[in-house]
Amino acid sequence: MMIRKKVTVPELQRMKHEGRRITMLTAYDATFTRILEEAGVDMILVGDSLGMVIQGGTTTTAVTMDEMIYHARIVSRGVRAAHLIVDLPFMSYQASVEDAVRNAGRLVKEGGAESVKLEGGRERADAVRAIDQAGIPVMAHIGLTPQSIHKLGGFRVQGRAEEQAMRLVEDAKILEEAGAYALLLEGMPAALAARITQGVSIPTIGIGAGPGCDGQVLVIYDLLGMDNTFNPKFAKRYARLHEIISGAVQTYIDEVRRGAFPGEEHSY
Ligand code: KIV
Repeated sequence: MMIRKKVTVPELQRMKHEGRRITMLTAYDATFTRILEEAGVDMILVGDSLGMVIQGGTTTTAVTMDEMIYHARIVSRGVRAAHLIVDLPFMSYQASVEDAVRNAGRLVKEGGAESVKLEGGRERADAVRAIDQAGIPVMAHIGLTPQSIHKLGGFRVQGRAEEQAMRLVEDAKILEEAGAYALLLEGMPAALAARITQGVSIPTIGIGAGPGCDGQVLVIYDLLGMDNTFNPKFAKRYARLHEIISGAVQTYIDEVRRGAFPGEEHSY
């Protein structure tokens, strides 16, 4: 197996400047981490999307620090060359800058994170500055910010109106100035994401934000088509694993019931 060079924060910044697109995917367990590492993804995100795809919630707001650390620790065991980034969950950084630094530190010390991600624009600049000054690289997530779902009123594209778009452009610059090493742009018009990307010197990673970002991220379960009822426009399905897994399980049930499994070749 080829040994890959470790993807570090300075390397991610070089990738932007050299026009090499960054790939990021989520992982929540050791098996997927191994597959993503072998495939050569640049960044692995232990996202608080685990509240939905692993825990079955309808939002990400219930996810706790201990749950993030549990999944981060599992994923970190399998991470080699990819950069490991972990989400700060809802209410782990919003109440105070001290909370933000302490909890970012827990993700690094207890979860093995190499950087952390938080949601929000200018209102998070102080938290970003303090986390960065503690020596922890921090990515800021703007646009559709799922932790604010109740304020946004749903999972909707943000920044369609010029005033809101301008605010996002300004937020991006303020967060860069505060020390964010990268920005995650979620659920916004492609032209706005491209404008933000051109306006900052740090990398942008997009999801539902068009091709003008420096990199792209998807939730691994969406990419694999694990949920046949979830089919938003932004989430290209590269496989239809729901059908494949369901078919395999049905065949197993059928074979056990007919006495066809286990056969002689599976028996001692
Ligand atoms: O939690 C998550 O998986 C994320 C991605 C949707 C970017 O933040």
